[in-house]
Amino acid sequence: MTLYPLIRSILFTQDPEFIHDVALGALKIPAVSRALPSFLPPPPSCPTTVWGLQFRNPVGLAAGFDKNAEAINSWAAMGFGFVEIGTVTPRPQHGNPKPRIHRFPAQRAIVNSMGFPNHGADAVAKRLSSPRPPGMPIGANVGKNRGTSIESAADDYVECLRHLYPHADYFALNISSPNTPGLRHLQDANAIRDLLSAVARERDSLATDAGRKPVVVKIAPDLEDDQIGAIVAAAQETGIDGIVATNTTTDHSALPNHIPLAGGMSGLPLLDLSLRIVRIVRERSGGALPIIGCGGISKREHFERMIEAGASLVQVYTGFVYEGPLIAHHLLHARR
Ligand SMILES: Cc1cc2nc3c(=O)[nH]c(=O)nc-3n(C[C@H](O)[C@H](O)[C@H](O)COP(=O)(O)O)c2cc1C
Repeated sequence: MTLYPLIRSILFTQDPEFIHDVALGALKIPAVSRALPSFLPPPPSCPTTVWGLQFRNPVGLAAGFDKNAEAINSWAAMGFGFVEIGTVTPRPQHGNPKPRIHRFPAQRAIVNSMGFPNHGADAVAKRLSSPRPPGMPIGANVGKNRGTSIESAADDYVECLRHLYPHADYFALNISSPNTPGLRHLQDANAIRDLLSAVARERDSLATDAGRKPVVVKIAPDLEDDQIGAIVAAAQETGIDGIVATNTTTDHSALPNHIPLAGGMSGLPLLDLSLRIVRIVRERSGGALPIIGCGGISKREHFERMIEAGASLVQVYTGFVYEGPLIAHHLLHARR
């Protein structure tokens, strides 16, 4: 796939969301996912067990790329060790007005203001109930509908869990997107305890039929040390199983300052912010809460730093856009 820089230069002449939709449109065609393994190397093997779940390798596709779980077989063919689908909300919604994805190639960054466009929990649950590739756990990232008040947010997370519980291997509560007004307030000390207790209660009652499945919480890179400490404490008190660190940042200072844009920034300039959060989570939890490290990973060196900082698993989104479909292989094998 040394061809990818050439392919990328052609793709990057087009609108980012259009290219995303075309790529996903192709990857969800069964004939394409069936053909991919003939063109790609076999998935990298680096068996990793977290929460009792077996991952063939620790590199996952981050939430947001395959929001509706449409191309699972293609992600498996590309060698990902796991995929986080979503963010899924209880009811379908269109998200924020377009354009809502902006690339910054010089900075290896993206700014997005998507606002959770998705098909809704029921449709995604049906799709996930089809047979899936073995050895590649699926996480379901869930959120609240834009029209649901922050006071009632827990109801939306609980409703998503009910729909999706039998069909995913773990669940990530997204309380850190900057693109749904007020969502990040769910990270405040009191709000988080209430939310996590409500979700943990629901998980425990669903567990009687479908078994206990891990629930993790996805946090922002823009938190103060004490806020992170409060989230870790709430997670440990309520029986939440881990942390995804992190979502996108509202700090756009790494970008050319004449372009004011709403939304969250991802990619290389996020790496140091995410590493900081991972280290603090590890320190505050005494290493007891498994961490999925996410933010700015595109090279093997970034992957190694994330694992050293305390992550058990990692995820990529922007690195996939800039480095191409073999990114899991590059992170795990290539010395670049
Ligand atoms: C276009 C786009 C859409 C995203 N959508 C979601 C989403 O729906 N839910 C979510 O939890 N994170 C979403 N993210 C954030 C990513 O999952 C990830 O946390 C973030 O981009 C940092 O990782 P990266 O630097 O590897 O991209 C999105 C990111 C991008 C660029």
